[in-house]
Amino acid sequence: MDAPSYFFRVEAGGSLHGTFRMPGDKSISHRAVMLGAIANGITEVTNFLSGQDCLCTMKAFESMGVKIESTGVDTFRIHGAGLNGLQPPERPLDLGNSGTSMRLLTGLMAGQRFETVLVGDESLSRRPMQRIAEPLRLMGADIDLTDAGTAPIRIHGHGGLRGIRYHSPVASAQIKSGVLLAGLYAAGPTRVIESGISRDHTERMLRAFGVEIETGLGYSELTGGQHLEGGRIAIPADISSAAFFMVGAAIAPGSDILLESVGVNPTRRGVIEILRRMGAGITVSNTRMLGAEPVADIRVRGSRLLGTEIGHDLVTLAIDEMPAVFVAAACADGETVVRGAAELRVKESDRIQAMCEGLRRLDIDVQSRADGARIVGGQIGQGTINSFDDHRVAMAFSMAALRASGPMEILNCANVATSFPGFADLARQAGLKIEQCAGTDLSAA
Ligand code: S3P
Repeated sequence: MDAPSYFFRVEAGGSLHGTFRMPGDKSISHRAVMLGAIANGITEVTNFLSGQDCLCTMKAFESMGVKIESTGVDTFRIHGAGLNGLQPPERPLDLGNSGTSMRLLTGLMAGQRFETVLVGDESLSRRPMQRIAEPLRLMGADIDLTDAGTAPIRIHGHGGLRGIRYHSPVASAQIKSGVLLAGLYAAGPTRVIESGISRDHTERMLRAFGVEIETGLGYSELTGGQHLEGGRIAIPADISSAAFFMVGAAIAPGSDILLESVGVNPTRRGVIEILRRMGAGITVSNTRMLGAEPVADIRVRGSRLLGTEIGHDLVTLAIDEMPAVFVAAACADGETVVRGAAELRVKESDRIQAMCEGLRRLDIDVQSRADGARIVGGQIGQGTINSFDDHRVAMAFSMAALRASGPMEILNCANVATSFPGFADLARQAGLKIEQCAGTDLSAA
């Protein structure tokens, strides 16, 4: 994905106010396209996240012959090709920055009867793919990775997969979902067993498409050969995008924001719990179901935050929100210790390193550890931060400006468009003094 480069310039201070609706959930948007594409009949998707990552998934299926029509703003009609109706793509599928597209599609493509090559950008081409290739090979899939265990991934689909019982060494929804999608094409049952909790959007949506899937504490199982029936998928607002506004409001005195219809799936709610523990004024109201997923309205007011301990169990429920949590910790009184978060090192960037380096530049006392960090709250300084091309690092540091002593520039922000197009505009409406500037560095401004 060649997105035009830009950086953020953010003036210090201010507070966040107003009522907002965040864009659609990224994880659920990917799954809506994937399942809609292999379902029978039509799937109507509303509040789709039209960010680069999900558009990569959409283009991948279009290049396999699936017709997807835009029927309004962030609303799409997918003409399902059926379980066995995908066509061989003429070129490698370019999945840009998106780990979810790559790992889930590796599973889905392993079930086809044709060859597919999956490629990604520089960041995605560094991320570990052995973790998805390994269980799929146990199912009989024929998959080539580079010697480093990374993309390009070449999948020689042959249609002869068999179901497995797989004990996943990492609790990862991407691995679990990739294996379950392959399981749809396998002979017999496929069970994925995890020692921790990972998000369950795939299981919920498969059920909504009529698939029989058994789920329990730490496992999910389905039997191959089941057909999916298209329907309507309404996508909740993304709690991972909401998290930046939640943290911004919590750290900026006088803030008061209401975020509507945010997905509050129990496997994704960790950030609410973490901020509550830190003393943030958060209320969750009007909880209701939107299709297969629970949503609620979340109100956050500026509060005095206190440092806390965040262990592995909570980290897994807030894995994508940890960059924002690091910023909350830097604004809290006392020390915050994060443990059991080694997975952060293999996200779009090494997020432990990126957040610790940025916070240190802002004069915060922080020590990184192999699986986390110790952050001592203090006065946020000012200056130039590298986001390392990581969307969530960029957005987290933008919010830190609310408590900074002077202006901040955050470099290499183009990938914000992967998950949150329009972030700067929405943040400005809420009260952040943010400007999006073209170019790769300050000299280009
Ligand atoms: C995702 C799962 C998580 C998360 C990622 C999206 C998904 O990754 O970090 O941003 O949509 O399944 P892991 O499954 O590797 O933990």
